[in-house]
Amino acid sequence: MKWKRRRGRPEPPRVVIVELRRSGVELVVPPTSTVLEALERNGFAVASMCRAGVCGACEHRPLEIETTSVARENRPVPEPVRLCVTTAGTVTRLVLDL
Ligand code: FES
Repeated sequence: MKWKRRRGRPEPPRVVIVELRRSGVELVVPPTSTVLEALERNGFAVASMCRAGVCGACEHRPLEIETTSVARENRPVPEPVRLCVTTAGTVTRLVLDL
């Protein structure tokens, strides 16, 4: 009997879906970009300074957040996120009041 080595199917690329509730816009942020960069590319002006997650200038409290972490999702009020360092990874969907 011959065994064939089965390769796992590649994971779909992780993205962050960002819904801008007031604007009625939805962005798909690729894994190579931060949410801040995606917003700027699409013409949204968001305050920023350090662009390294340090100063807090780009911090927004999302209306909703979906993550791969159940503990983070189940908080009654979503914690603020720093858009300059938010990338596809643990955050999968973000609803912002923009
Ligand atoms: S720009 Fe400084 S924390 Fe995002």
